[in-house]
Amino acid sequence: MITFDQVTKYYGETLGVNELDFSVQDGEFLVMLGPTGAGKTTTLNLISGVIKPSSGDIFFNDDLINPVSPRKRNVSFVFQDFILYPNMTVEENIAFPLHSPVRDFDEEEIMDRAHKVASTLSIDSHLKKHPPNLSGGEQQRVGIARALVRDPIIFLMDEPLSNLDAKIKENLSSELKRLQEVRGDTFFYVTHDQSLALSLADRLIVLRNGKIAQMGDPLSLYNDPNSVFVARFLTQPEVNLLPCSYDGNVCQLDGVSGSIGVSPEKHSLEAGSYLLCGFLPKDLELLTTEGDLESQTNGEISLHEAQVRQVRFLGADQVVTVDVDQASLDVIVSPGTNLAVGDTVQIKWNTKDAFFFDDATGERVG
Ligand SMILES: Nc1ncnc2c1ncn2[C@@H]1O[C@H](COP(=O)(O)OP(=O)(O)O)[C@@H](O)[C@H]1O
Ligand SMILES: [Mg+2]
Repeated sequence: MITFDQVTKYYGETLGVNELDFSVQDGEFLVMLGPTGAGKTTTLNLISGVIKPSSGDIFFNDDLINPVSPRKRNVSFVFQDFILYPNMTVEENIAFPLHSPVRDFDEEEIMDRAHKVASTLSIDSHLKKHPPNLSGGEQQRVGIARALVRDPIIFLMDEPLSNLDAKIKENLSSELKRLQEVRGDTFFYVTHDQSLALSLADRLIVLRNGKIAQMGDPLSLYNDPNSVFVARFLTQPEVNLLPCSYDGNVCQLDGVSGSIGVSPEKHSLEAGSYLLCGFLPKDLELLTTEGDLESQTNGEISLHEAQVRQVRFLGADQVVTVDVDQASLDVIVSPGTNLAVGDTVQIKWNTKDAFFFDDATGERVG
């Protein structure tokens, strides 16, 4: 287990990470998600030891490792732009870390390990080739194999799939996930890619300006974001945000001739506050027929007339953008739904699904 206790890192005047407090559990797939410059690489470098905290402590189990040199930390790093040795074969590249003088394996054991890991990553047919003769995706596999050949306490992965085509990225990420599960390794993977983060993580840390914005399992973060930042960063299509004011009874929407009810058991809002009301695109519904309308209307649910502005087919579902008075909202609908630009529909929102954020701070308030 690795623990960060109030770890801050400054580069001169620039803040890298700010009072990080979290731990990596043995055997978990931890993902840190954040935009460029959030401090992800800094966090990994603090674990590998190539940089030291400006303040705060890092522990491996109960041992304070601040003073321990990188070579003695036994971590394995995979980068976005790692360098394979072009004059060595794939086999030699993969085996390379095992030749380090601090490890003593005999040659047979080294090759055995290299071949096993090559086979798990389906590059065993390329063992005698040189990296320049491989595709980008194959080279990335070699890079990952070179990291996996070792037996470190943790694998640190710094966006290793970011440069790959979508399809290869998808395949390789699901293989990584499977490998981690089968081997029981501890992975700490950092990325700016929200869909990758959600699909890989056992646990997710959202990082913003060097600070932890929210941490938890991906589903809870998705369904229960603590701020506008987390809600927007995790969703694609993005969460719908409607400015509104709470009059003590309902939320009056700006630019929309309607209001959204507040469910007292779920939302505790202050009368007179100015808010952003959030609905996930999956939580909204579009209704087209009269029958639907009658059966659906009750206290918790509001209906509003809307015009279809755009329909995007995504395969498993479609995203429909509708205009509701001055507002525009994205709604995920099943692919069978037959809607065309210009259609008039009813949009249905359920009070229970609404998030409320403070308009000024972006913090979740209800
Ligand atoms: N070696 C460095 N010298 C100065 N500033 C740095 C250095 N490395 C990172 N930073 C700064 O620290 C912040 C966090 O950077 P980084 O950890 O690389 O973020 P990320 O990996 O999330 O993109 C950024 O503002 C970045 O400019
Ligand atoms: Mg980085």
